[in-house]
This record gives sequence, structure tokens and C-alpha cells, in this order.
Amino acid sequence: MRAFLGIGIPAGVREAISAAVAQVRSHHAPVAWAAPENLHITLDFLGEILPDRVPLVERSMRAVASGIDPFSVTAGGGGAFPGTRNPRVLWVGLLEPLELVRQLQQNMENALSVAGFPREDRPFHPHITVGRARGALPPAWGERFVQALSGKGFGVVPVPSFTLYESRLGPGGAVHTPLCDFRLEGFRKREIREEKEP
Ligand code: 2AM
Repeated sequence: MRAFLGIGIPAGVREAISAAVAQVRSHHAPVAWAAPENLHITLDFLGEILPDRVPLVERSMRAVASGIDPFSVTAGGGGAFPGTRNPRVLWVGLLEPLELVRQLQQNMENALSVAGFPREDRPFHPHITVGRARGALPPAWGERFVQALSGKGFGVVPVPSFTLYESRLGPGGAVHTPLCDFRLEGFRKREIREEKEP
């Protein structure tokens, strides 16, 4: 099965992103736009894994979640990978400070590495993919896309948990199914709970 770990996005933020992207979509370019319900922040792409490894992933992710406090990030602006001149992946950005999401991703990668999964071979740039180029885009199209989203805010994404998703590729695009949520329960929250418990 194809699997990844990520952060789900609340409906209001998905709608705000989709509304902004809809203005760019009308410029007709060969781009496969992500369905609003598919918008997410990828933390770690596991790729093809054997289903019998899922319990191991779940165990190590529960340990990661128990060491990180809930936090939030703000979605805003846009960009393109590898760059605006040759855009292949079009994304909406997350506004700084991003230390907490970076810390979460780092702890996740360390735990997955201990569990025997290969480390990501590219640096972590937290983002929300909104489209993927499916052919040559008109000149300056990437710059126009980024300009259209520049300075726009799409709202706060609370991160009380992260999710293991199964991702099925199909003719109508990918379908991401949440398999398991890992509630962030950092030291502060655990201390409060432990104080309450006898
Ligand atoms: P992205 O869209 O945030 O870049 C599920 O397929 C998710 O895993 C995608 O949304 C993509 O995240 C990420 N992904 C897909 N293929 C990948 C790859 N080869 N390496 C890293 N991440 C990948």
C-alpha cells in the first residue's frame, strides 16, 4: 500500500484556498488541480509499504506524538517547485514561525529511521500542494500563479494531531484515506493530566 503521514486541513481553510486557486484555474493551463477534500500538509512520504508494517508505524508515531505539544500554523501565499520559472508542483505556503512543524517532522523522521524506514532524500519544505503540471505551461505562468496568491491569507490550521493516510492512485486522481490519527500530547499536556490523575 502507498502511505504517507500528514496534517489534515479544516474545511474553512480548504474552501479559502480553493476559492483563491479557482481564479488562477480559469487561465486554462495543463495542471491537475488537487480536489479540495484532498488538500493536506505532507510530513513524511512512506511510499509503498507492506500492510503488516502499519502497526510498527503506528507504534513509533504514537511515541512521537506523545512528545510534541499541539500547535497551529497559518496558510498563506503560494509558490512552485522546483521554481516559479519551471513549475511542476504548485503550492500554498505556511507562514513562519514553523519551528514546531519542523520539530514534529524531524522527530517523525528520526523515529521512522530507527524503525527501519529510509530517510526522506529531500529537504522538508512544509506546503500544501494545490496542483501538478501535466505539460508545458505558458511562459511566466508560474510567476502569475505566485503573484495571484501573494499576500493572501487562508486561515489558521490547528494541529491537534497528525494522520497516517493510505493514498490510492486512480484515473480520477489520488484518493487519500485517513487510517489512524495521532493526538499530539506534549509534555505540558501530559503533566496537567498526570497532576489530575491520582
Ligand atoms: P505533496 O503533495 O505535499 O508534495 C501523497 O501522495 C503525498 O505524498 C503527496 O501529496 C506528496 O506530497 C507526497 N509524495 C508523493 N510522492 C512523493 C515522493 N516521491 N517523495 C516524497 N513525497 C511524495
